[in-house]
Amino acid sequence: MNKLFLTFSVVGFSVFLFNPSYGGAGVIVMGPTPFGATADGTAVEVYTLRNSKGMIAKVMTLGATLTELHVPDRVGITADVVLGFDNVADYQSDKNQYFGCTTGRVANRIARGKFKLDGREYTLALNNGPNHLHGGVKRSLDKVVWKAQPVANGVRFTYTSPDGEEGYPGNLNLAVTYTLNENNELRIDYEATTDKPTPVNLTNHSYFNLAGAGAATVLDHILELAADEYTPADETLIPTGKIESVKGTPLDFTRPTRVGERIEQLLETQFNGYDHNFVLRKRGRTPTFAARLKDPKSGRVLTVLTTQPGIQLYTGNFLKGQTGKGGRVYAQRSALCLETQHFPDSVNHPHFPPVILRPGQTYRHTTIFAFSAE
Ligand code: BGC
Repeated sequence: MNKLFLTFSVVGFSVFLFNPSYGGAGVIVMGPTPFGATADGTAVEVYTLRNSKGMIAKVMTLGATLTELHVPDRVGITADVVLGFDNVADYQSDKNQYFGCTTGRVANRIARGKFKLDGREYTLALNNGPNHLHGGVKRSLDKVVWKAQPVANGVRFTYTSPDGEEGYPGNLNLAVTYTLNENNELRIDYEATTDKPTPVNLTNHSYFNLAGAGAATVLDHILELAADEYTPADETLIPTGKIESVKGTPLDFTRPTRVGERIEQLLETQFNGYDHNFVLRKRGRTPTFAARLKDPKSGRVLTVLTTQPGIQLYTGNFLKGQTGKGGRVYAQRSALCLETQHFPDSVNHPHFPPVILRPGQTYRHTTIFAFSAE
């Protein structure tokens, strides 16, 4: 047993002793455990989900965020495979580049922060060059404190975003539920309802390094994507509206390929690495295969399944060497995101799968992060 695991087990045991725990056979849910407070004094709490296979997930009420994800390798040694911080202040600082959070109301970009809906124009904050990114500046979903309720094998976070928050119309009732099972699958279920038509696009923004958060690079990870096409983008990363084949481009991950194999072809571009939305093949109401990521050294494998039509591959191009959990440094390209989502700027591209939620409808999506080792 390595030292990290031993330390964690001791911490985990005391959490177990002093906190209420929930759950049936196999998966135990512990919490709420105090994690600190936001700058305005709101308490932030963490819940711990643990199965009998050595997997542990921690989720917190600030941003309905996945803060830790401990996964066994091929010989059973666990490592925390997601980037994050040890305290709330760091999560609220500019060191935090959406680590592990729930992103929205509309994840990814909206061109010039403008869209028209039922004849009315809406204007949103510009926080990414000329564009709106990840739901805004002060009250995007990653920056608010959600309510938490333990459920079987997990935690359900809820938040009502009031009409007009960050410029979006409608009171939006949101629920994000994380559950863990005995097959080492972390499942995220998203739900939303509204009282006015409004765009919704929710994702989880975890940064993965399957060798452990803080390991030098993900360029040697092997990636496969269930995508034959992508949405080309302009110099500000807004889709041109075209859908093109990945064939013959560095975006072809239809067969398992090293992440770093062709990345240098993208370094001189506006993307500075991978920062692209891929069109996923077959979609349905049940989550289907979207991506497979493997760290050849540890043998850890992440398989992503989703109901979403797209996935943004982002190779941590703008990570800046900030210090994260346990004093580890997060260098450029030391982690990557697989953001299951609707296509960027869908509100301004009527031929993209629609993102408008109307009163009476329920937005539902599911993404599963399934882990194995080989
Ligand atoms: C975007 C990147 C951005 C990153 C962190 C990703 O979803 O596509 O361009 O830098 O999030 O903010």
